[in-house]
Amino acid sequence: MVLLRFRIIKNMIVAPQYRQMHLLKNSAYVNGEWVKASSNVVFAVKNPADDSVIAEVPDMDAADAKNAVDTAAAAFETWRWTTAKERSRVLRKWFDLCEENSEELAKVITAESGKPLAESRGEISYGNSFLEWFADTARHINGEIIPSPWPTKQILLTRQPLGVVSVITPWNFPYAMITRKVGALMAAGCTCVVKPSEDTPLAALAAAELAEQAGVPKGIFNVITTSRKNAASVGKVLCEDHAVRCISFTGSTGVGRILYGLAANGIKKVALELGGNAPFIVFPSADIEYALDQAMLAKFRNNGQACVGANRFFIHEDVYDKFVKGMKNRISQKCVLGHGTQEGVTCGPLINLKQVKIVSKLVEDAISQGAKVLVGGKVRKELGANFYESTLLVNVKPSMSVFSEEVFGPVVSCVKFNTEEEVLKMANSTRSGLASYVFTKDLGQAFRMSSKLEFGMVAINDGILSAAEPAFGGIKESGIGREGSKHGAEEYTELKYTLMSGLDK
Ligand code: SIN
Repeated sequence: MVLLRFRIIKNMIVAPQYRQMHLLKNSAYVNGEWVKASSNVVFAVKNPADDSVIAEVPDMDAADAKNAVDTAAAAFETWRWTTAKERSRVLRKWFDLCEENSEELAKVITAESGKPLAESRGEISYGNSFLEWFADTARHINGEIIPSPWPTKQILLTRQPLGVVSVITPWNFPYAMITRKVGALMAAGCTCVVKPSEDTPLAALAAAELAEQAGVPKGIFNVITTSRKNAASVGKVLCEDHAVRCISFTGSTGVGRILYGLAANGIKKVALELGGNAPFIVFPSADIEYALDQAMLAKFRNNGQACVGANRFFIHEDVYDKFVKGMKNRISQKCVLGHGTQEGVTCGPLINLKQVKIVSKLVEDAISQGAKVLVGGKVRKELGANFYESTLLVNVKPSMSVFSEEVFGPVVSCVKFNTEEEVLKMANSTRSGLASYVFTKDLGQAFRMSSKLEFGMVAINDGILSAAEPAFGGIKESGIGREGSKHGAEEYTELKYTLMSGLDK
């Protein structure tokens, strides 16, 4: 009898394959303790590949969120006065433990997000690089002494930590989006309450387990889990409580707009990393085979579920047919859809049915307006309800939603262009402005495109631009603020001006 193979927790059924995963937690982490929701209610976290229950976690509400904010506020009074060297040491220790536990962390990510294990390993390495980077950066968050206009006075600018930061993170990179924010804010001397996505809270809890083992002091890094039902009321506390001084959010522009509105009441700082609609532009001088390889990375990383993922492929008419043919071959030969733990799989499921419906609708709308599907274009039901085929669309027009909206799925939309001016106009005709990609061997053209593309990030001849060292972020409706680099830590500080007068007395 099938049921005997499962372990029943309360009314949930946890599948046996998850029992050996020692970083799986089923409590939230507040003030250095593993806690339940005050209501005692839990919700199930499921694997999007097969709907199996991985764990159940506390369904926390507004009161729990308030308690976590108070905890972070109390911890701030100590953490803010620690030396940069001390903060650096704590972050380094956490980094070391995360590195040691990379494989276990990767398994957690694959279980809850469905992404192939190789990609989860990549995310852990990427996520850990932020802890390492900010362990170093902690000691270089400097102030300034500015030559004063007065002979007997000095002007000092110092950087002070903001206070409690509410960290609200998405499901597409459930680990790296946390370390990128938390590494930075801890380096700056802030404390936080993290609310991970309800789809993927387990990587956040695994990170908390390792933070505890690393000796991160109580109350600095708190993780509260909440289902979709409570997300709005918890989010309201995290944005409006007076103790919170900054809201750091990665996710959709729609939700970012709501959080920005809530933050406005308390004149709180925001760090928003929102949706993109990245152009991927190929000029005739480019090495087309290389551009195709990079296109595969820029599009199919995390199965297209990335804000920086290439969304609109603008291909010069001289190389259009070659590019489209090459893309068709690559998708047919290289994209292997399946369960993230299976050997050889390159694309997992989409995160949930809602996402499948959004992607399907965008493709159907494009087809109804004259786009043509060369590969894919439908759900692979025999694999599971969330598996959407890697898809190639041609004859895409700016009037189609697949062009104007962020697709967040494995769909390559190709548009032909003729001149530099024409492609710039089309590429910039979006309210988003996160990442952009340009392929050309013409140096002047590379500089012109870099300066005229209205995007926060421009990759010339590359399909991947994310790392801990550069300043990651968008303009227009793609966000406010930068993550990574020294600027990422400075986001969590405010400048204090001290006038030192009476120096002649
Ligand atoms: C995102 O898609 O939200 C971030 C991706 C990245 O950090 O590269």
